Amino acid sequence: MAREKRWTQLWLQYKPRRDCGNAAYFGRVVIRGFDRDNAVVKNALAELQKGIGGMLGAQLTEEERTAALAKGSEPPVQMQGILLQRSQAGEIREEGYRIEEANGLLTLSAVDENGLLYGIFHILRVVATEGSLTGISVLVNPDNPLRMYNHWDNMDGSIERGYSGRSFFFEDNQITVDERIVDYARMAASIGINGVVINNVNVKNAATYLITDRYFDKAARLAEIFAGYGIKFFLSLNFAAPIELGGPDSADPLEPSVIEWWKGKMKEVFNRIPNLGGFLVKADSEGRPGPFTYGRTQADGANMLADIVKPYGGIIIWRCFVYNCTQDWRDYKTDRARAGYDNFIQMDGDYHDNVILQIKNGPMDFQIREPVSPLLGGLKKTNQMLEVQVAQEYTGHQIDVCYLIPMFKEVLDYRTYCAPERDTVADVISGRTMGNKYAGIAAVCNTGDDENWTGSDLAAANFYGFGRLAFSMSLTAKDIAQEWICMSFSTDRQVVETITGILLTSRETYEKYTSPLGIGWMVTPHEHYGCSVDGYEYSCWGTYHRADHLGIGVDRSDKGTGYAEQYYEPNASMYNSIDSCPEELLLFFHHVPYNHMLRTGKTLIQHIYDSHFEGVEEVEGMIADWNSIEGKVPEDTSRGVRERFDRQLYNAREWRDQVNSYFYRKSGIADEKGRVIY
Ligand code: GCU
Repeated sequence: MAREKRWTQLWLQYKPRRDCGNAAYFGRVVIRGFDRDNAVVKNALAELQKGIGGMLGAQLTEEERTAALAKGSEPPVQMQGILLQRSQAGEIREEGYRIEEANGLLTLSAVDENGLLYGIFHILRVVATEGSLTGISVLVNPDNPLRMYNHWDNMDGSIERGYSGRSFFFEDNQITVDERIVDYARMAASIGINGVVINNVNVKNAATYLITDRYFDKAARLAEIFAGYGIKFFLSLNFAAPIELGGPDSADPLEPSVIEWWKGKMKEVFNRIPNLGGFLVKADSEGRPGPFTYGRTQADGANMLADIVKPYGGIIIWRCFVYNCTQDWRDYKTDRARAGYDNFIQMDGDYHDNVILQIKNGPMDFQIREPVSPLLGGLKKTNQMLEVQVAQEYTGHQIDVCYLIPMFKEVLDYRTYCAPERDTVADVISGRTMGNKYAGIAAVCNTGDDENWTGSDLAAANFYGFGRLAFSMSLTAKDIAQEWICMSFSTDRQVVETITGILLTSRETYEKYTSPLGIGWMVTPHEHYGCSVDGYEYSCWGTYHRADHLGIGVDRSDKGTGYAEQYYEPNASMYNSIDSCPEELLLFFHHVPYNHMLRTGKTLIQHIYDSHFEGVEEVEGMIADWNSIEGKVPEDTSRGVRERFDRQLYNAREWRDQVNSYFYRKSGIADEKGRVIY
């Protein structure tokens, strides 16, 4: 079925670019050691042609001698042009590549097809950003073995926490296979994504049947498209599938009939969907079934599935978002922040080697500011993967600008002290700490079938940036932003500087007008956009701020819930004491009086007032900046972003006035600057 909706090409537009001496390399091409019939190789070459055709008006001609060259007796290539060659693994590792230019010959070397594809996208990036290929010499190996997008798409076409239209994978309980999927795969591959989960982690209804004959053919076609771009295909799995699909009336992971059922099922699924990488599982979480129902551990559940998929090279990615979502708000002892660690730490070392535990960056749920989860690195003998959320659930719904790459970098750079060296989150999740191969990073994706993919044009910076960062964790948030702007909009200096400025300050701005100093939430329940200070305060979700007339914050020190003690030293002591706790997380760890003096010399209450006024002023500043480049970015983008800025400004004002009024009314302390508070 043809789609009615159109879609853009985001950063793969391939609009004309200044030559910068680059066109000279794109005439003759020689290919050595790669099979021209391999789907990835074909797609890589097609992409190169498309890119340099559009940007430089160049046309590749494959040299006759490509085919004639015998393996092992390859004479040096002497020509002006481009050489694509397979090389031995050594400095260049799996999925990595080297690009070098000398004497007019541009050489791209890789040990596998994915490396070739990523190298070609690197070359296209240089051309698109109007860099120069002359004299280039780069060796790039991916930092993370697994670099995944998780889509929370439902089979009826809706998207859980989706802010950019409907699903392009599903419609009316059917899988869609069309050109948009190909373009999605190209986008994902261009930023180095090598694994995609297409369905929501909350697997219900029709989605449970994705592992049945009802969907195999189309799932296999999607998987094949992805394979052509070096991307493994993954599904989210319903732990209670045996019961729901007519197998045994149990999902007990230690029950022989259940194990037998899964064995048969996995054999069928892996046979019918080649290129299936494995499964993502949300179990015992927010109403989803899991091993706890049968008095079994999370390890029992994960290992059972992992053993069964192992012969097919499959992996089980098991989420650690397990907590009590039916808590009594009167209960000060239960602390949702503790739950991930408490539920998973004891079985460290028991998880089988093709299980990866996928851990959200913070212990709560993708708030604008949270400490890093103590489970990351807390586990010392278990494969771990970091989960971040590119979809802006709590960070503005892709209405408010919030460039998340700086936040992700903070998380990656965080020292866990789990080892004497190589102890950052980046080390842990990339496999550098433990030397494990099943490791990496996943993000909940922010795409939908909107024409511009991400609702707001500016939200595509996160879609792009996550992949680039997952591949090369040492890139800066600024570098990534600039690349994306040049590729998506323009290389004009004013445009690049203005948009970079907006993006790089956007997270702090959002934080300023929303919930203060790490306390989080205060959002409209369920929807999670807009202010509602007490929205979750008297609910079952474990997300309280505990504000009264004297102070605000949750005591998670050793005198409170003890959460701070889940960290290694010196982090545990640092968080435990109100004096050493980083101030941006103060209210996450401590219940603090309004007149507490911060290191800035301001009281807590004054900080709340000031930051909320500043937040709104900063949004006004961003709008002025955006208006200053009008005419220099495409009209659609200009208008679309302006319209979202209007909504962001409205939202920011609501937050400012509600938060300030709330705390003024609670504390009775006036703003020192006498501004209007209601
Ligand atoms: C959040 C989100 C849910 C999601 C859950 C998860 O709670 O609001 O929509 O299902 O995270 O990560 O599983």
